[in-house]
Amino acid sequence: MKTQGQAPLWEALLNYRRQRMSSWHTPGHKDGAYTWPEWREFLGPALPLDQTEVPGLDNLARPTGAIAAAQERAARFYGAARTFFLVNGASVGLIAVILATCRPGDEVLLPRYAHRAVFNALILSGARPVYLETPWLEAPGLPLGVPPANLAVALQEHPGARLLLLVHPTYEGIVPRTGELVNLAHDRGLPVLVDAAHGAHFGLDPALPPSPLDLGADYVVQSTHKTMGALTQAAMLHLREEAPAAGVAAALNLLQTTSPSYILMASLDLARLLAEEQGRRDWGRAVARAMMARERLAQAGLPPLAPAAVTGPAASGLDVTRLVLPTAALGSAGHAVAAALRRAGQEAELAGGDYILFIITPGDGEEKIEALLAALLSLPRPAGPPAGVVVSGKKLAPPAGIPEVALTPREAWLAPHRELPLKEAAGKIAAELIAPCPPGIALAVPGEVLTPAILDRLQAVRGPAGRVLVMDG
Ligand SMILES: Cc1ncc(COP(=O)(O)O)c(C=O)c1O
Repeated sequence: MKTQGQAPLWEALLNYRRQRMSSWHTPGHKDGAYTWPEWREFLGPALPLDQTEVPGLDNLARPTGAIAAAQERAARFYGAARTFFLVNGASVGLIAVILATCRPGDEVLLPRYAHRAVFNALILSGARPVYLETPWLEAPGLPLGVPPANLAVALQEHPGARLLLLVHPTYEGIVPRTGELVNLAHDRGLPVLVDAAHGAHFGLDPALPPSPLDLGADYVVQSTHKTMGALTQAAMLHLREEAPAAGVAAALNLLQTTSPSYILMASLDLARLLAEEQGRRDWGRAVARAMMARERLAQAGLPPLAPAAVTGPAASGLDVTRLVLPTAALGSAGHAVAAALRRAGQEAELAGGDYILFIITPGDGEEKIEALLAALLSLPRPAGPPAGVVVSGKKLAPPAGIPEVALTPREAWLAPHRELPLKEAAGKIAAELIAPCPPGIALAVPGEVLTPAILDRLQAVRGPAGRVLVMDG
């Protein structure tokens, strides 16, 4: 399939390649000539596409040519006023928006289960977290969204807040009541940043949740690499309006490399083209296959988490292409099931304490899904009704309430600190971010008071001899 005037950056890269210019510039591998032979053999024709800012290939920091055109096409497709290509994942987009919108001491409203990149942004910007109460699903133990009623209270208590951050969807595909939350925030003039790292495909099929841009979000960050066929690290940041673009561009230039990979950027251009050309058909098929897998598993007594189980005051639905399989019926913890599946050649996305997660995209054909189902259905089951699963340290327990924020994450990060055994750290102020990945949910954030409940969770991860960085004093 050829592209003609449809993928500006990809086409510019191919045109440049055709000119066969003699390279006296970076990268030093010189079109692949100076690389490990096996590597060269493997990547072959892709290596000359690893280019730099030569004439005709534009410049990500100040785009006016092929990159600008590719970003404009992405913006049009996603319904944004402006789109930025990112070469350090959704992470850099989240950090850039927070740096562009918040100053030291400014309040950001957010759920405590936000990704670690958000806490990194708080450390860099000096902003102060204000946590929104979020209920958790009991089994499997997963965070739900922010109930609009809780946001309404927080908006009243924090009238000067600068930004609302929402996660749409969570890693496991749970979608908050984003439309209502955005309206509440906008009524107070508060801009909304949506972490849609896992939702770049939303809106491409009626069975999928809506795109947060369609729900009025001001800033939307998507990991195009997670579901849309772009290469790992390649992501996008969309702005609903043009006005904040200069500030966001300046923040991105503060954070991103001056040598962005053209292979990554071209993969964004082509992921957008693929979605535009056939995304609806492809995602329709992916949804149908996911529904088939859900039905088969349910019939076999292994029902995946269903949209009805999460929909309510805190969540508006679930991405059906995320298969969250509670492992209680298998009598095992999630990581034990993941290990058994690995022996059958099946690699899951994530193993939680009491569930396992599989991601289905258009890249998963029927045969491949059948093989996964066969592996799952051949796992041994305990006799009789499922007993409660004894879960080891990996269980993602709900946080013990909202932690006390004694200092901003930045103040705690910069203050003198020392390492203490976990046993001696109760009442001290955390000086490090502890957010084991996956799923990357923070167990401790710099600036918050370490309670026995938080320390228990840290001990489950770091062991009884574990230590933690705390502020001096
Ligand atoms: C909810 C959420 N937000 C943001 C990110 C960061 O995305 P990226 O890896 O593209 O930087 C992740 C990564 O897993 C995530 O799960």
